[in-house]
Amino acid sequence: MDGPLAGKTALVTGATRGIGRAIAERLFADGATVIGTGRLPGGDVPEGVEFRAADLADMAAAQTFAKEVEVMAPDILINNAGINSPSPFADIDAGDFTAIQQVNVTAPFLLCRAALPGMKGRGWGRIVNIASVWSKIAKEGRASYSTSKFALDGLTKALAAEVTEFGILANCVSPGIIDTEMTRNALDDEQLRALVDQVPAKRLGQPAEIAAVVAWLAGPENTFISGQNIAVDGGLTRV
Ligand code: NAI
Repeated sequence: MDGPLAGKTALVTGATRGIGRAIAERLFADGATVIGTGRLPGGDVPEGVEFRAADLADMAAAQTFAKEVEVMAPDILINNAGINSPSPFADIDAGDFTAIQQVNVTAPFLLCRAALPGMKGRGWGRIVNIASVWSKIAKEGRASYSTSKFALDGLTKALAAEVTEFGILANCVSPGIIDTEMTRNALDDEQLRALVDQVPAKRLGQPAEIAAVVAWLAGPENTFISGQNIAVDGGLTRV
């Protein structure tokens, strides 16, 4: 395939729907060989994308998949799979809290670590971790999620401090309120309207708008951005 990512292999977690699906589609259109994951066997990924099942909520399965990633040795790693379970602070279930950290932080950590040897060996790598505007600001009912996404930002910055000298650029992209199943499940219509009203763009974002920024950060035009957390949020955070 022609395109800026020709000759590169990209791994995108959570590529069966929403933002991850749009990222997988975009990286493939840009010429990469793309491997996309989903939680369950037989997941539907965009045409041209190779599917792998990996339940990242399960520590043993995540570790097994990390071993596969060492062999796969992707040039580009996009840690997109993520979960949310909004709850008032006092009612947060400890098991749910831990599961969110497992999928949103521990799995990206394991996959970054697994991808590094290949990237270092080639002297080129791009890691984009999908955080959230709730990695920059916080909101009621989002303690478990914000804990995980602030942590993912910290992980990415610390990683960048160690690996950028080897040609590996690691960044976060933080979506705002995007039109996906996760958003529709977390917010009822009234909550969604109230939130969108706070967005200077006055609309939901589309998954393709996130994918465009991820593709640029993951591509050859990005030569000097590392350790950043870039909000793509229609102006919501403005921090
Ligand atoms: P989604 O719920 O529509 O899709 C999530 C993807 O992650 C799916 O492909 C699913 O198979 C995968 N996934 C979920 N649990 C998994 C598990 N246990 N093991 C492996 N894969 C699993 O989510 P959406 O909205 O596309 O979000 C993608 C990323 O963007 C997440 O990290 C999310 O936190 C982040 N995000 C989303 C925002 C939004 O407005 N939708 C806003 C800010 C961040």
